[in-house]
Amino acid sequence: MSTYLVTGCAGFIGSHLTEQLLSAGHTVYGVDNFDPFYPRNIKERNLAGIRNHPEFQFFEINLSDFQLVRRVPFDEVDVVIHLAGKAGVRPSIQDPNGYIDANIVATQNILNRMRDAGKKKLVFASSSSVYGNMPETPYREDMEVSNPISPYAFTKKACELINYTFHHLYGMDILNLRFFTVYGPRQRPDLAIHKFVHLMKTGRAIPVFGDGTTSRDYTFVADTVDGIIRAVTYTEQNTGLYDIINLGNNTPVSLNDLIGTLADVTGITPKIDRKPMQPGDVNITFADITRAQTLLGYQPKTRIRDGIQQFVTWFDQQYSAV
Ligand SMILES: NC(=O)c1ccc[n+]([C@@H]2O[C@H](COP(=O)([O-])OP(=O)(O)OC[C@H]3O[C@@H](n4cnc5c(N)ncnc54)[C@H](O)[C@@H]3O)[C@@H](O)[C@H]2O)c1
Repeated sequence: MSTYLVTGCAGFIGSHLTEQLLSAGHTVYGVDNFDPFYPRNIKERNLAGIRNHPEFQFFEINLSDFQLVRRVPFDEVDVVIHLAGKAGVRPSIQDPNGYIDANIVATQNILNRMRDAGKKKLVFASSSSVYGNMPETPYREDMEVSNPISPYAFTKKACELINYTFHHLYGMDILNLRFFTVYGPRQRPDLAIHKFVHLMKTGRAIPVFGDGTTSRDYTFVADTVDGIIRAVTYTEQNTGLYDIINLGNNTPVSLNDLIGTLADVTGITPKIDRKPMQPGDVNITFADITRAQTLLGYQPKTRIRDGIQQFVTWFDQQYSAV
């Protein structure tokens, strides 16, 4: 059994991951600062099932503050799984400095602590956003991605670069995982599926940016978490490691098809509020997952309709409970 540090453990992906690691018998130190990007009570609810687990210890700490990061017992940790950060493309355009603090400065603080504690193993949450508007699909990890089109994208790319530097200087074994539009129970309220279902169920119009032909490689959270755990194991078993791995679904879904599936699953015909494309938005995300399949044995299993059904079931339970 291992001891893992999961940053962003109160968030959408982090809370699912932490539950999985605890139920497999591992010890987890969780860090989160309940960043106000979305309400604290949602994150408290994400943590509810694990807060009192005997193998879980929670640190409410802002990772951008190095003095606070020193309180986390890095010397006891086998692998750091760094998921904390500010997510979201559009808000990053309003607040680039906030994203630099929460993403770049926090990652640098973690690397410094790992170096000081002699710790070598890091799995980092990067993003499909680094691909920008690549003309060629599907996106492969060896594509040149030096043209980020939002502050969020550049902070994630910057973290991949800092991680490389620390791999080079201190022999750290690091995997950067590029997630592709993760969805499922507890999905962040700012993301399309959650936002749309909420608006549909309260009789309001859903904003559709562009003509609906933009598409996303929606990946169900259990598949993403399975990929993260495989990456953690791979990192524990290998040395001399620095890599970038797409964790996508390899099946882009257009916005129009997504809305059609939401209508089918909820039984609600949505009202559409058409709007122009937003700055920073990309036309398509589409992961080539060959590297994840080859190195990690990763194979996403959840089809979009099934995943949306699971999301809607969770949504109905949540909103009937409040
Ligand atoms: N959800 C997706 O579709 C997606 C896609 C690509 C990449 N990612 C990345 O995966 C990670 C997890 O995403 P998520 O959707 O679960 O987001 P989330 O916002 O639900 O979780 C992130 C957590 O990090 C915490 N956090 C933020 N800044 C912090 C700081 N300075 N110190 C401590 N904690 C801090 C937040 O409070 C939050 O609970 C993020 O790094 C995100 O950028 C997510």
